[in-house]
Amino acid sequence: MNRLVFVLLFGLSAVSCYLPPTINVCNRNDPNLEKCMLNVVEKMRSNIVSGDYGNGTKLPSLDPLFMDRLDIDDGENLRATYLDTVITGARNFHVDKLHVNTESKTINLLITLDNLRLKGKYNINMRIGLLLIDGDGDSVLDLTDVKLLVKINYFFVENSNGRKTMQFHPMDVKIKYAGTAKFNMTNLLKGRPQLEQAANDAINEAPELIMDRTKAPVEQFFSKLFTTIANGLMKEADENEAFPL
Ligand SMILES: *[C@@H]1O[C@H](CO)[C@@H](O)[C@H](O)[C@H]1NC(C)=O
Ligand SMILES: *[C@@H]1O[C@H](CO)[C@@H](O)[C@H](O)[C@H]1NC(C)=O
Repeated sequence: MNRLVFVLLFGLSAVSCYLPPTINVCNRNDPNLEKCMLNVVEKMRSNIVSGDYGNGTKLPSLDPLFMDRLDIDDGENLRATYLDTVITGARNFHVDKLHVNTESKTINLLITLDNLRLKGKYNINMRIGLLLIDGDGDSVLDLTDVKLLVKINYFFVENSNGRKTMQFHPMDVKIKYAGTAKFNMTNLLKGRPQLEQAANDAINEAPELIMDRTKAPVEQFFSKLFTTIANGLMKEADENEAFPL
């Protein structure tokens, strides 16, 4: 069987009873291997979105996506915590670039999320010019054109019963907010509701003050999420099943 089974971030792979039934295969000799893999991602889109890969394989869903907590700390100018955030819109993700290197066991991906809405609770202390913001309430954030650059490294490890299974190192994720960011936070100036709109406007004139500070924790969040999904999909696949010769 001259097949090379691949695992992508979102789990491309194998003809194997150890792999979830929804996972597909690309041939090693396929001259358009990367195109094949993109097709597999497309076929698996609904599984990736729901996190249900069939035969009892349930992994975190991509849409909606749940983020328990996000902390931002930029000293005196900005401290914020976002809690219980529900993120929707990732179901329409695009894979803009995909590069595989089987020698170095790496996969690089560029993913674009056109529209995301983040809804949750927040509290914030922030200084914008002369305005001191001290808020605590509900937050809605609309983002457009969010780009994720994901570097994946996989390896094989032998477990106690002699099977060599495929695993992933924690993925390296870089985020770029290439579009717009629009906040709508309630109770942004505690006790001065009449200024709430003005405070939102002030933030929305320079959303990068907050967005830039979210990068590191959001990158960690996606790294953990994608690594969990990939490892969950491949945990039972051994080397010969994942890379049959
Ligand atoms: C689920 O797994 C079993 C073996 O564990 C297999 O017989 C069955 O065909 C699988 N279902 C699908 C939909 O692939
Ligand atoms: C902000 O959200 C509140 C409800 O939480 C809503 O009433 C208001 O219309 C929203 N403002 C904008 C500009 O979307």
